[in-house]
Amino acid sequence: MPKELLLKNKSFYVILTNLTVILTVIFMCGIVGAVSERNITPILLAGLTRLEYRGYDSAGVAVINKEQNLECVKTLNKVKDLNEKVTGIEGNLGIAHTRWATHGLPVESNAHPHIVNNRLALVHNGIVENYSELKQFCINQGAIFSSDTDTEVIVQLINITMQKDNLTLYDAVRQTLPKLKGAYGMAVIDAENPDEMIAVRQGSPLTISLGFGENFISSDPMALLFISQQYVVLEENDLAILRKDSVVIENSKGKVVFDSNDTQKSKYKIITSTQDDAGVTSKGGYRHFMHKEIHEQPKAIAETLEGCISDNRLLVECFGQEAAFIFSKIKRVQIIACGTSYHSGMVFRYWCEDIIGIPVDVEVASEFRYRNPAIEKDVLFVAISQSGETADTAEALKIVEKLKKQAEGKNHWSILTISNKAESTLVRYADLVFLTRAGFEVGVASTKAFTTQLVALSLLMIALGKSQKRLSETVEKRMIQGLRKVPKLVQSALDQEEQIIELSNIIANSQSALFLGRGTMYPIALEGALKLKEISYIHAEAFPAGELKHGPLALVDEETPVIVIAPNNDLLIKLKSNLEEVSSRGGKIYAFEDKNSKLTRTKSVNVISVAENVGRISCPLLFTIPLQLLSYHVARIKGTDIDQPRNLAKSVTVE
Ligand code: M6R
Repeated sequence: MPKELLLKNKSFYVILTNLTVILTVIFMCGIVGAVSERNITPILLAGLTRLEYRGYDSAGVAVINKEQNLECVKTLNKVKDLNEKVTGIEGNLGIAHTRWATHGLPVESNAHPHIVNNRLALVHNGIVENYSELKQFCINQGAIFSSDTDTEVIVQLINITMQKDNLTLYDAVRQTLPKLKGAYGMAVIDAENPDEMIAVRQGSPLTISLGFGENFISSDPMALLFISQQYVVLEENDLAILRKDSVVIENSKGKVVFDSNDTQKSKYKIITSTQDDAGVTSKGGYRHFMHKEIHEQPKAIAETLEGCISDNRLLVECFGQEAAFIFSKIKRVQIIACGTSYHSGMVFRYWCEDIIGIPVDVEVASEFRYRNPAIEKDVLFVAISQSGETADTAEALKIVEKLKKQAEGKNHWSILTISNKAESTLVRYADLVFLTRAGFEVGVASTKAFTTQLVALSLLMIALGKSQKRLSETVEKRMIQGLRKVPKLVQSALDQEEQIIELSNIIANSQSALFLGRGTMYPIALEGALKLKEISYIHAEAFPAGELKHGPLALVDEETPVIVIAPNNDLLIKLKSNLEEVSSRGGKIYAFEDKNSKLTRTKSVNVISVAENVGRISCPLLFTIPLQLLSYHVARIKGTDIDQPRNLAKSVTVE
């Protein structure tokens, strides 16, 4: 085995100099920091609790106490455990962290904060790509490492820089930053300067919440809404200096872009949160956030439609003032998204090409960003993202932006972001924005975000059709009337829950499940399979039913349930013959139909009627519901951690 392994991709090299070193890639971690006149320990822990939904495998807190000593506590359990361990630790400056690792062991030594010299403490969200060479440099300078993380390299480097030239924390951080390659959001404190925290953003979101006699930092301002509704978002390469009575933000060149004591002259504006915080902490009588969020869909869909419709006509301006003009010019749509959001984009392709004849390409962002796509001149790029912070999608948009600039306006490209988060990275990249009104989604498995994205995309299809005169007023009116009925129809699909629970008892005993659909039901089948594997850990695959005989049929046996989505549409006849293929091989079918599908019930074909007379637009929305409920109840029966499934995080903010 070669000692050196060189991995190359388009934008960076990762050198693994020693294969015994555990490469720790930290994703989606949560950061909270505070500097205040009062004791900040309870605030840090309350903030961490609110970030728990993102998923994590360890947590930690570091506080500079009254004697100017750093006290640090870590846990491999939940934040609740940290709460018990911090008893008696008080101070006015501190940082805290929930860590989620994809590689490397979730052991306490790898948990954040990382401490050096009993003086510096640092929390970090992101990846230091050149950490191996930097680590070697630090070791050569006499540093002794106590973790396998890339994060510790940053704090060791800052320490070496400080010691060498007797620098302040600010100067040492400034000198360290150019040496780091990768993406990070971080906060660092120095026990010898207990009034100040330095925070830096590069590729990983950070916001500063403002208070009176206190200021805070977090990777998601939602974490601190209980204490401050006013915040400022750091832009890429910004560095912030937080003290209890001031916040100064500098850009990469050291120019002040925000000063809390001179907000009039500041380039950045203070955002006052409009998000409803109430639902974040409460499960509202449900056992899991996911279950609550599934049941919130009628309301979320109705609210997403609100303000977009007048007198059964779509207001195209709900996509932005320029929308009608931009939509009238484009010749093609390129969807960029990940996971569940990608599935909603796939549904859009069927709608858009079928109903208004505008070609649509749909690609997962992690692929789009690493190839050189050949894109035509008049394209609308649509980024779909619940969080608005998904790193792959953001990077893909950055590439689009760069190419757009290079073309000096000659390629007529525009970006539309569809997101559930108003103040997010993807929203800031966009020319046009549509905000879904799903409300805060806590469960890692996306539910109401998906159905509200479908609503947004159905409106986009209508808006494009209108702007290009490809949709008659009558059809527009019919579609809008249909959309208005969706909240009620979704509610009746939710009312089938008892039947789904019965089915869940069967599926929960399976090792594996297959999902089949045709047309728009194919992405819905993909979404159903993703939900099931994500929270129940049952292996699940989805196929377009017509593909069965090209391979997947080999998987059909008595043990593997085949879950079929069978609305009464043009493809039903074709689907029925696919079901024959399954039955004749001894497969067990569990089908969701609409009442007019009239599937024949047999010993091996179990059918649940979900709806009646569903239209082209409402169909994918309605058939999503039983699949969400199915995965939820299977996971509940299996006793998995539904809201924070293993190995997953809510918002994938780093590659
Ligand atoms: O926030 P985004 O919509 O950009 O997130 C994309 C995916 O990470 C996300 O949809 C993921 O697939 C969900 N956990 C699925 O339930």
